[in-house]
Amino acid sequence: MAAAQQSVEPAVSVRDLSKRFGSTQALSAVTLSFARGEVHGLVGENGAGKSTLGKMIGGLYHPDTGELDVFGNRVRRWDIKRAQDAGVVLIAQELCLVPALTVAQNVFLGRERRTFGVLHSGLERRYQELERVCRFGLPPDVPVDRLSIADQQKVEIMRALARDARVIVMDEPTSSLTADETTRLHDIIGWLKSRGTTIIYVTHFLEDVLAHCDRVTVMRDGRVIRTADTARETKASLVEAMLGEPADMLLPERPPEPGGAPLVEMRDVYSGEAVRGVSLTVRPGEIVGLAGLVGSGRTEIARVLFGCEPADSGRIAFRGEEVRAASARASIARGMAMIPEDRRAQGLVLTRPAFENVTLPHLGGFSRMGVLARRAERAAVEELFERLGVRPRQVDGDISVYSGGNQQKVLFAKWLLGRPEFLILDEPTRGVDVGAKARIYQLIVDIATSGTGVLLISSELEEVVGLSHRVYLVRHGSLIGEVAAAETSVEVLLQRLFGVGDTPTTSTPSGNGEDQ
Ligand SMILES: Nc1ncnc2c1ncn2[C@@H]1O[C@H](COP(=O)(O)OP(=O)(O)OP(=O)(O)O)[C@@H](O)[C@H]1O
Ligand SMILES: [Mg+2]
Repeated sequence: MAAAQQSVEPAVSVRDLSKRFGSTQALSAVTLSFARGEVHGLVGENGAGKSTLGKMIGGLYHPDTGELDVFGNRVRRWDIKRAQDAGVVLIAQELCLVPALTVAQNVFLGRERRTFGVLHSGLERRYQELERVCRFGLPPDVPVDRLSIADQQKVEIMRALARDARVIVMDEPTSSLTADETTRLHDIIGWLKSRGTTIIYVTHFLEDVLAHCDRVTVMRDGRVIRTADTARETKASLVEAMLGEPADMLLPERPPEPGGAPLVEMRDVYSGEAVRGVSLTVRPGEIVGLAGLVGSGRTEIARVLFGCEPADSGRIAFRGEEVRAASARASIARGMAMIPEDRRAQGLVLTRPAFENVTLPHLGGFSRMGVLARRAERAAVEELFERLGVRPRQVDGDISVYSGGNQQKVLFAKWLLGRPEFLILDEPTRGVDVGAKARIYQLIVDIATSGTGVLLISSELEEVVGLSHRVYLVRHGSLIGEVAAAETSVEVLLQRLFGVGDTPTTSTPSGNGEDQ
C-alpha cells in the first residue's frame, strides 16, 4: 500500500470489492474506508449489500475481486479466525451462538480454553467486568437457547467485547432490543469509541445513525452511493440516496369508516400478570391500533386474543360467537392470522425455497384441488411478492440467501396468503427498509378496505396514528383510554402513555374489573 498520504491508516479499508452470488451482483466495486475510533453507519434498502460487506470484513465471505486492508496490512487470506486475531469481530444479523452452551461459555467461546466446565474464577471475574460495562443482567449459567432473541443479541455483544475487538461490525443490533436496551447499546458504543474501537453500524433506524454515528455510507444495489459526515445528512437526504429518488414518506389514506357489528370482542379479559381486565372490539374493515410503550402488555393482549396464551377470565368472541378453548391452531382455522413481533426466530424453514415457506400453512386449502390450484397458488404468491417488493423476485429462490429484510417480507406474505378475516400485526415494519414500509402500509390499508379487521401494534406511533381508525392506549396490561386516530397526534399519545397530565376522569383505573 502506498505509504504516507496520512499519518494514521484507517482501521479497515476496502478497494474495488466485488462479490457475485449466482446471478446477483451483491457488491460492485465497493471502495470505502473506516477510520480508527469512528462510529460509521451503513444504510441502504433491503438487499443493498450491507450484510455482505460486513461479512467480508468479518471474514465470513471472500471477495471475488478487490482489496482489503486492516490497520494498514493488506489481507491476503482472510477467515473468521484470522479476522478475530486481527481484532475484527462481526455481530451478524442472524445470530450465531451455540444453543446448548451457557451465556458465559458463549461469551468466552474460542477465546479461552476450557470454558466447557464450570466457569473458573478468572473467567468469572472477567465476566463480572464485562457485566459492569454492559449491565445486561443476563444469567451467566443459563443455556442461551432458553433466552429470548433480544437476550441472545446481548450475549453476542458481550462476546465481541470479551474478544477485545478493535473493529466491531454490528449488523442490525437493535432490531430486537427494547428502547431501554437500545439506549444502553448506544452508551456501550460511545464507551467503545472512547477507547478507540471502530464500530461499523448497520441499521434501518436512520435517527440512530444521525444521532450516534460520525459518518454514514449509503449503499444501493451493491454500490456505495456516498459517504458523508452525519452532520451533513438528514433523514430525508439519506432516504433519497437509499432509494435513488425523493421519498414519498406519506402514509396512505385511511380506509373508509367501518360499520357493522364487532368482528372480534374481548370483554374484561385477564391473563396472568400481563393482561388485566382488557375490553376491546375490532369491526370488519377496521384498523385498530394498540399503542403502548414496550413492555406495556401490547403483545400479551394480542397473544391472548389469538389463543397463544390462555385467558384466566373474561370473554372473547369472534363473529359474535364466544371462543372457547382458544388455541392458535383453532384461531387460524377460524380465519385469524397473527404476524408476530419475533419474526426472525419463528417460522422460516431455511432449507426450503421461498415459495414453500409462504404456502406451508395453507397446503390444505390449495392442494385439495390439484394442479390448477397449484398454479393459482403460484400466481397468488407472485402477486404478493410483487406487492411487497420481495427481492429476488423469483418465488423459487433459496430463502436462506435472502437478505434479512427480504426474509421478513416473505414471512409477511406467508400470513397474508390465507386472506384472513382478522389480522393481528405486531411491529409489522420492524427491520424493513423505507421503501418496503410504504408498501406494507398500502397493503394494510388494502386488506382493511377489503373487509379484514386489523389489530395493529407498533412502537412507531406515526404508524399507529396514521393508519388506524381508533387507538387504544395500553399501560401496565390495561387499556387506559381510547381515541379516534383522526383526532389525536403522536405528541398527545406519548403524553398519555407516559401519564403526563392524566386525570382520573379520562383514564379507566386498572383495578375496576374485579367484580365478575
Ligand atoms: N450467500 C448468498 N447466496 C446468494 N445470494 C446472496 C447471499 N448472500 C447475500 N445474497 C444476495 O446478495 C444481495 C445483498 O444481500 P445483503 O444480505 O448484503 O443485503 P442487506 O443490505 O444486508 O439487506 P437487509 O437490509 O435486508 O439485511 C441480496 O440480493 C441477497 O439475496
Ligand atoms: Mg442485512
